[in-house]
Amino acid sequence: MNILVIGGGGREHAVIKTLKKSPHCGKIWCLPGNGGIAADAECHPIKATDLDGIVEFAKAHPVEFAVVTPDDPLVLGLVDRLEAIGIPCFGPRANAAIIEGSKIFSKRLMEKYGIPTAAARTFDDPMSAIGYLKTCDYPVVVKADGLALGKGAVVVADLGEAERAVREMMVDKVFGESGSKILIEEFLTGPEVSVLSFTDGNIVVPMVSSMDHKRARDGDEGPNTGGMGAVAPNPYYTEEIAERCMEEIFLPTVRAMNAEGRTFRGCLYFGLMLTPKGPKVIEYNCRFGDPETQTVLPLLESDLLEIMLAVRNGTLTSGMVRFSDVYSCCVVLASEGYPKKYATGYEITLPALYRGEIFVAGAKREGEKLVTAGGRVVGAVDTGMSLREAVKNAYALAKEIGFENAYLRSDIGARALKALGED
Ligand code: AMP
Ligand code: GLY
Repeated sequence: MNILVIGGGGREHAVIKTLKKSPHCGKIWCLPGNGGIAADAECHPIKATDLDGIVEFAKAHPVEFAVVTPDDPLVLGLVDRLEAIGIPCFGPRANAAIIEGSKIFSKRLMEKYGIPTAAARTFDDPMSAIGYLKTCDYPVVVKADGLALGKGAVVVADLGEAERAVREMMVDKVFGESGSKILIEEFLTGPEVSVLSFTDGNIVVPMVSSMDHKRARDGDEGPNTGGMGAVAPNPYYTEEIAERCMEEIFLPTVRAMNAEGRTFRGCLYFGLMLTPKGPKVIEYNCRFGDPETQTVLPLLESDLLEIMLAVRNGTLTSGMVRFSDVYSCCVVLASEGYPKKYATGYEITLPALYRGEIFVAGAKREGEKLVTAGGRVVGAVDTGMSLREAVKNAYALAKEIGFENAYLRSDIGARALKALGED
């Protein structure tokens, strides 16, 4: 089966390498891909948001199945466009991708169907938002309604910070129209867990849980990033909590989307916080997480392509999705300065032989060379019989990857090890 994959990050590299393990996998094209993905798929420089360009490409090539993983083309309706020309897709249609595309939509959905989440108020003008902020206890969380590259949520400690966040989003429009409406949300506490799941609209099959490391610096300090590393499984996510999440969050969400006439088929990502009052939803994503995917997919023992086809066709069963019970760790090598200003164009050297997996994100080819071309450059992933071993192996692999101005956090997995009493 010939497959078109949309996107060009470490997540897409992980998806492609996992698809290639399937005996049914034929040719893979990736739009736009990147310099590292080019070793595993035929890449063409068509942007993931260029829907017309992608549809033209799909018409001109013998594409039998498409996998759409980034948020923006999903929200813009790429799956609808490709399905309309007869190409079956993995990924939700636009009317279901709105679960990530509008935080106000998802908050209303959760309120309407009794799915546990932080209490929130919505505002569409800055004056009434600021009026409300004057009555709040702090901290609170200010969130842009629309997509904002994972940077649309700001935890604010006092009224001054809150006013600044509102002004940036609603007046200065740092996230464009995504910030013309906002949510002001109750601040929750507790460990965070990412649960990626497969759903065909009938059942939900969670993947192994994971823990992202969103902040740029060690000790969870510094600005929020796309994610500096991840470990799986997440030690806070016990069997008992998993059962509770299935009953209180996962199934109710899928049923709610059906009831709204917005059946979700694809990867539904639950960003959870395990609060003293039980698990609550922090955010939904309509797609695989990055870098969680790089950590989770290497643990998948079953055939990803079969699963994706079953998701598309409404024939998913839980028996189709099997994970090994070892641990996994992904360490991201970024360009120094990320997520703010950073320099690119440095040659990347990769080891010829290695254990584990190297997933390439911000890199491009220059002749024979692979050079840095983005903030997050490479993910070094490895597994182990214990989390300690997985972390040690992933760092050993990261050490073999070199480029000038490389930056990595040195404490990926530390919090999880502490939770396990292995620190
Ligand atoms: P989001 O963009 O919604 O994933 O939020 C980014 C990060 O902000 C989350 O991973 C949390 O660490 C934090 N956050 C978001 N909402 C809340 C909340 N209601 N309470 C506490 N922290 C939050
Ligand atoms: N790692 C969080 C996300 O993909 O949104």
